[in-house]
Amino acid sequence: MNSNRLRSLPHLLLALLLTFAGAQQALAQAAGATADVKTQGVVPGATAAATPATATAPAAGGGDAAAIAAGDALFKGNCAQCHAVNEQVVGPALGGITKRRPISWILPWVKNSSKVVAGGDDYAVALFNKFNKQQMPSFALSDKEITSIVAYITSQEGQANPGVTAQNAAKTDGADAGAAGGTEAGAGKYVDILLIVLVVVLIVLVVTLVIIGNLMKDVLRGRKDLDGRDIEILEQRFNWSKFYHSPAMRGVVGTVFALVLLYEGVQSVMAVGLTQGYQPTQPIAFSHKLHAGEHQINCAYCHTSVYKSKSANIPSANICMNCHSQIKTESPEIKKIYRAIERHQPIQWVRIHNLPDLAYFNHSQHTQVAGLQCQTCHGPIQNMEVVYQYSALTMGWCINCHREMPLNTKDNKYYDNLVKLHDTKNAGAPFTVSSNGGTECSKCHY
Ligand code: HEC
Ligand code: HEC
Ligand code: HEC
Ligand code: HEC
Ligand code: HEC
Ligand code: HEC
Repeated sequence: MNSNRLRSLPHLLLALLLTFAGAQQALAQAAGATADVKTQGVVPGATAAATPATATAPAAGGGDAAAIAAGDALFKGNCAQCHAVNEQVVGPALGGITKRRPISWILPWVKNSSKVVAGGDDYAVALFNKFNKQQMPSFALSDKEITSIVAYITSQEGQANPGVTAQNAAKTDGADAGAAGGTEAGAGKYVDILLIVLVVVLIVLVVTLVIIGNLMKDVLRGRKDLDGRDIEILEQRFNWSKFYHSPAMRGVVGTVFALVLLYEGVQSVMAVGLTQGYQPTQPIAFSHKLHAGEHQINCAYCHTSVYKSKSANIPSANICMNCHSQIKTESPEIKKIYRAIERHQPIQWVRIHNLPDLAYFNHSQHTQVAGLQCQTCHGPIQNMEVVYQYSALTMGWCINCHREMPLNTKDNKYYDNLVKLHDTKNAGAPFTVSSNGGTECSKCHY
């Protein structure tokens, strides 16, 4: 019996065990990913039916993962407040855009849609009119960035909208996640099967090796002519206590612990004074999703001053009564409105957005003059059951937009001379808010 081969056996076993643990973790991750896909609202039944789709959808399956990831981030940063892939939000659902329009149309559109509309492109004009002449903002994105956004959109086609949270997923669950819905789920399942087979093979291997090892030890024990090294092997056990107390083990655990602490610390320090995501419970279960989303009530019907003055007002109970003197009069939530009116007391809404007093922000400048959509800053309000603060509302947030956003100077005589002056001085560079002094301290600070 070759004792050298035997000696390496425990090492081999350990290596196999580690591989096994790694595979198991990967499996758990894959299972998590599939669960994610499911919570995003893909019909569970679609998985089986859609497996062949993996083969026929090279754009989704074989597409450049890095481009898709870059597109994902760009889409969430620039487009998600107005677009979803499989659902109309402020703008149309972008799923299937490559089938409707060539990339040679999409590029100039995203860079400056009003130019395409002004150029008289039939499709663009019809679309613009269909969306009540709402102007999509211009984006200073490169061709490559836009192409990666399109790659991301293509990869998400047919799935329920990932940008919007579970509330919405519940709604889109059934119909929207249509036929192509399972592409990713199908791929996920394929990976699952592969991993399960791998794990089973590994288990069989480990068991076989353990049996062989024991058999060999038995054979060794049966022999009389054992030398010192053979006996050593027979007595050898894996020393767990030594493993735990080894400096390497302590080093690894200590480093991981320190890194986690550091990360959490930095995160919490960065979040001081930040109220992004703040979503208090309101005294009446008023839903923007129901009123502004499903019933399409215009924002300014309630927030009457948002186009005219510095602040957007919160509607008084009288505005509610325009409808609720008739609608749902028996609902306990609506009765709270009646009670407030009887007592001559305003409804005590909890304020969500609140800049510190040192900063000056004016709604009409942004909504009326700049023509920005509410969603650009407030996110998909029309999908929110309960409103939350979508943007960071930090100084950096204001300044970043002012640096990038071109001024809406069309049909605004006030800007004519300024634009001329700007163009003669820096030909080609866009005339942004910041070129007009929008990053000077005194513009925003009293
Ligand atoms: C503030 C809202 C808003 C933002 C942000 C926005 N869009 Fe749009 N988009 C629209 C509207 C509204 C339309 C419909 C056409 C119109 O009214 O001008 C549209 C139309 C489109 C179309 C044509 C869709 C079709 O069905 O033919 C494409 C493509 C598009 N947008 C891509 C993008 C991309 C890419 C981004 C992010 C870089 C983006 N949009 C950001 C509002 C927006
Ligand atoms: C039927 C009336 C109504 C309509 C329509 C409506 N809102 Fe509101 N909005 C309210 C009320 C009431 C509150 C205060 C309670 C709350 O936060 O939900 C509010 C709160 C808000 C807030 C948070 C204010 C804060 O405390 O910081 C924002 C932002 C907002 N609305 C934006 C919008 C936008 C954008 C639209 C259009 C898409 C819209 N609202 C349509 C009634 C309305
Ligand atoms: C333009 C009409 C209109 C206005 C203004 C309006 N609502 Fe509504 N509201 C509706 C409609 C329509 C429904 C849905 C009724 C249904 O589901 O049958 C509704 C439903 C509700 C519900 C859900 C009631 C329930 O028990 O299902 C609440 C709460 C509510 N509104 C609160 C308010 C408050 C608070 C205001 C004022 C800030 C307001 N509404 C202003 C039209 C309006
Ligand atoms: C350029 C970004 C931006 C746009 C566009 C915008 N808002 Fe706001 N909104 C803010 C900021 C910032 C605040 C916090 C203001 C403060 O605390 O003084 C705010 C606050 C609010 C509030 C709380 C009341 C107030 O004035 O403090 C309401 C309601 C609101 N916005 C509604 C709207 C509606 C409706 C629209 C679209 C017609 C809109 N906003 C467009 C940035 C924006
Ligand atoms: C999504 C983009 C965007 C964000 C975010 C934004 N702004 Fe603006 N802001 C604009 C645009 C566009 C204009 C130019 C409007 C015009 O044509 O005068 C503007 C103009 C202004 C002006 C007038 C500047 C001047 O030259 O007269 C002030 C003040 C201002 N913004 C303050 C703020 C503050 C404070 C915040 C953050 C709380 C903020 N803005 C966030 C887009 C933005
Ligand atoms: C486009 C608008 C805008 C401009 C321009 C601007 N600020 Fe601010 N600044 C803000 C807002 C909004 C806040 C509040 C942010 C917060 O609460 O996190 C703020 C906060 C601050 C604070 C308080 C500290 C803090 O971070 O909360 C200081 C100090 C400050 N700004 C200094 C300046 C100086 C100096 C300049 C000129 C170089 C300047 N700001 C230009 C919008 C602006």
